[in-house]
Amino acid sequence: MQPAPVTKYRPFPPVNLSHRQWPSRTLSQAPIWCSVDLRDGNQALAQPMSVAEKLEYFEMLVRIGFKEIEVGFPSASLTEFEFCRLLIEEKRIPDDVAIQILCQSREELITRSIEAMCGAKNAIFHLYNSTSPSQRKHVFNATRADIVKIATQGTQWVKEYSRPLIAAGTRMRYEYSPESFTSTELDFALEICEAVTDVWQPTREEKIILNLPATVEYATPNVHADQIEWMCTHLSRRDRSIISLHTHNDRGTGIAATELALLGGADRVEGTLFGNGERTGNVDIVTVALNLYTHGIHPGLDFTNINEIREVYERCTRLEVPPRQPYAGELVFTAFSGSHQDAIKKSWSVQKPDQPWDVLYIPVDPADVGRSYKAIIRINSQSGKGGVAYVLEHEFGFSLPKLMHKEIGRIINDVADAKGTELSPAEIHEVFRREYLERPLPDIVLRDFKTTEHNNVVKCEGQLELRDGALHLISGEGNGPINAFVHALGKKSPDLVPQFEVLSYAEHSLGKGSEARAVSYIHIKTARGQSLFGAGIDTNIELASIKAIVSALNRSLAKK
Ligand code: KIV
Ligand code: ZN
Repeated sequence: MQPAPVTKYRPFPPVNLSHRQWPSRTLSQAPIWCSVDLRDGNQALAQPMSVAEKLEYFEMLVRIGFKEIEVGFPSASLTEFEFCRLLIEEKRIPDDVAIQILCQSREELITRSIEAMCGAKNAIFHLYNSTSPSQRKHVFNATRADIVKIATQGTQWVKEYSRPLIAAGTRMRYEYSPESFTSTELDFALEICEAVTDVWQPTREEKIILNLPATVEYATPNVHADQIEWMCTHLSRRDRSIISLHTHNDRGTGIAATELALLGGADRVEGTLFGNGERTGNVDIVTVALNLYTHGIHPGLDFTNINEIREVYERCTRLEVPPRQPYAGELVFTAFSGSHQDAIKKSWSVQKPDQPWDVLYIPVDPADVGRSYKAIIRINSQSGKGGVAYVLEHEFGFSLPKLMHKEIGRIINDVADAKGTELSPAEIHEVFRREYLERPLPDIVLRDFKTTEHNNVVKCEGQLELRDGALHLISGEGNGPINAFVHALGKKSPDLVPQFEVLSYAEHSLGKGSEARAVSYIHIKTARGQSLFGAGIDTNIELASIKAIVSALNRSLAKK
C-alpha cells in the first residue's frame, strides 16, 4: 500500500442533491425482482453452467417466485441461444414469467436476439452500452453524442425488428442500461435515458425499464441512493419508467447500496442468489429479500427451503456459500458465546408462535427458511452453562434442574478445553452419560433394591457392591423410598459410603408412551461440604431416583 498521504486514489465526488428525501423514508413494499443468475452470474463462472444446469436453475428461480429472469446473452454464444430456444420450444416458461435477454447495441446481434425470443409469451429485451467518461475515453474513443447515438440507434433497431414478434403475440418490454451508470456524469445519464425513452415511447401501461447499474461499486451506499433519487426526480417521464437497480459488490456494500437506493425511489432490483457475479459479485437477492421479510414486508419470493436452494446453487455454479453468509451460511444460526446462548435460551423459551419474533441474537426464525433448530448451539470452552443445558434438553430431552446447569457447564467446559475444539451435541451427551448415568468405574454399584410399604412407612432392602469389593446387604425405613434408602446408606461406614443429606430432587419422563422412562436428578450435600448432583434413569420412577443418589455418591467418591 502507498504510505500516507494516499494520492493514488481519489475521493468519490458527492451528488449535489439539496433536499434529499431518502434518509427519512422507510421501505414499505417489495421491489420487482429480476434474477440475473443465468447471465451476469453465469458469465462470471470459471466453468459456465451447461444447458441442463441452466434449466434446473431456471426452474428453481421460477419456484422461488421470480417473475423476471434474465436467461442469457443469446447473440453471444450458441449455448445461450439454444438455451433460450429450449425454454420457449419446450414451453418451460410459465405465462406470468418474463424471460429477459441481454444484447449490445449492434444490428446483427439485435436481430439474432429477436430470433432467439421468437414464440416467447412474455419477454424483456435488455440493451446496454457503456456511458462513463473513462469508458468513453479508453474503450470507445467517442464523444457523448456518439454514445447517445449508439443507444438510440440500438433502441430504434429493437423497436423495428421486434414488430413481427409483437404482432405474433409476444408481450415485449424494453430495458435500457447505461452501463457504468454510477461512474457517469448524472446529467449525461439523464440525457441518454431521455433520448432512449424518446425513441421507445413507453406508455403508463407498458413502461420502459431504465436500469441504472453500479457496474463497479466505487462509492458509499448513500452516494448511490443520491444518484438514484436524483434520476427519479429529474426524469421527465418517471410515470412511464421503471427504475431498476443493478449493484455489484466491489466495496462489499452492494446490499446496503440497493436498500438505500430503493429508499431513493427505485422500483426494481436485478441481482443473483447468494451474490454470484463478476468479481465480488452482484447484489445478493436472498439477503435483500429476507432483510425486507424480517421487517415485516413479504418479499414475494419464497426462501422457505433455503438449504435446497443453496444445494442447487452450489452444484450448478460450483461455488460455495460461505459459512457466514446471511440467512444461508452454515454458521449463521450458531452461537458460540455463552452469554449469547443464555440470552437465546431465555428469550426463545418465552417466544409465543403468534407473537412478533423476539429471540435475542437470532433476527429471523430459522424455521422460516427451513433451517433446523438443532445446530443452533455448539459448545466450546467459551460457552456458558445455558448452552449445554439447552443442547441436553432440545437434542436429548434432559430437562436439568436450574442449579445443575452450572455443574454440567463446568464439566463440559473442561472437556472442551482439553480437546481444544468445540463439542458436538453427541459429544456433550456422551460426557453427560459417562459423568452421571454410566460411570465407567463406580465405587458403589446397586445390585438389588426393593421397597414395601406398611402404615405409611416405607421399608427398603437392597444389595450394594462397594469399593472394598464385597457385597453389602442394606435395609432402612423412611417416609418414602428415597428417605428409606438414605437411612439404609447412613448405616454404612463413611469410608465406603459418604455421609450426606438430600437438598433437592426433580424428575421427568424421557420419551413418550409405553417406551417412556423416568429420569431423576438428586442434589446432595456431603458431610465434607461437597454439593453435587446425580442422575438416574429407569423405567421405574422409584429406581430412577435411587440410581440418582448412587450417581451423586459415586461422583463424590471420585472427587475425593
Ligand atoms: O453490471 C452491469 O453493468 C451489467 C449490465 C450489462 C447491466 O451487467
Ligand atoms: Zn452486472
